[in-house]
Amino acid sequence: MGEGSGYGKVILFNEHFVVYGIPAIASAIGSKTIARVDKTEGTGWTIKDERPETPGYKKNKMDHQNDSIERILKAAGIDVNQTPINIYLGGDLKAASGVGASAASCAAIARALSVQFNLGFSDERVNEIAYEGEKGYHGTPSGIDNTAATFGGLIWFKRGDPSFIKRLALKQPVEIVMGNTGVVANTKAAVAGVKERKENEPEKYDKIFDEAKELAQKARSALEVHDLQTVGQLMNKNHELLQQIEVSSQDLDFLVKLARDNGAHGAKMTGGGLGGYMVALTPGKEVQEKVAQAMEKEGFEALITKIGV
Ligand code: PMV
Repeated sequence: MGEGSGYGKVILFNEHFVVYGIPAIASAIGSKTIARVDKTEGTGWTIKDERPETPGYKKNKMDHQNDSIERILKAAGIDVNQTPINIYLGGDLKAASGVGASAASCAAIARALSVQFNLGFSDERVNEIAYEGEKGYHGTPSGIDNTAATFGGLIWFKRGDPSFIKRLALKQPVEIVMGNTGVVANTKAAVAGVKERKENEPEKYDKIFDEAKELAQKARSALEVHDLQTVGQLMNKNHELLQQIEVSSQDLDFLVKLARDNGAHGAKMTGGGLGGYMVALTPGKEVQEKVAQAMEKEGFEALITKIGV
């Protein structure tokens, strides 16, 4: 049996903008997906997906998952007609929109295949295969999710050919709360929506995109000197820009405000938007608890974790 894992992630700055080559910052979080691969009889592959989930997520993503696994097997060079396999997915990362669930599973499966078939994949190779797998979910993924899922830590990411990836140092892990709207969002549709609006309103969008670019540099500097007040303020500003490109939602805006009102240094939607998760920067256990409890009191699920792990 082969086993491997992939980290969940949170995008701290510039989801969506990253698709167009603007730098983004993401971090691995303390939750992971574990994959196991076993050889079996017959032909083809099967999957047993026992990850915890936002209700409806797995069913909703089943076609994407099938497509993704076919792509991973192809990229890894495995012919399941010759060597049929069972794939198992588990771990403590919720299968949900916005926590990098698809990328974590792709990286985990690539690693499990490498062990099962003695392929000796490096992290770079795992990342390439996970990127291929992400295409099944995203169409045109930027690559930020699979990079965080594969390598962990805090990551500066600029899409390109090749993409530029730099690990950023964070003095110590910082507490965050990720609030789940419970809405299963469609990242592909959100990305397509931005593309369409950007084409229709180039001037408006160019201005917003310039601001996002400037913000990324400021956020990087603030993270590097551990200035969490400034990081929080910049997250608030980033949320505004994401609202302007119309990828936030009422639930996301509500949770963002709730987090700020309860002492978060800053808060924003994270990932594809239109549902999924938001993230609040809550240094220290006390403020983290307070923000999480406020969300739970309103009927939302809150994930308590850390960035920079
Ligand atoms: O919804 P998530 O967490 O998979 O994040 C998607 C991030 C986007 O920037 C919207 C798309 C991408 O491919 O980078």
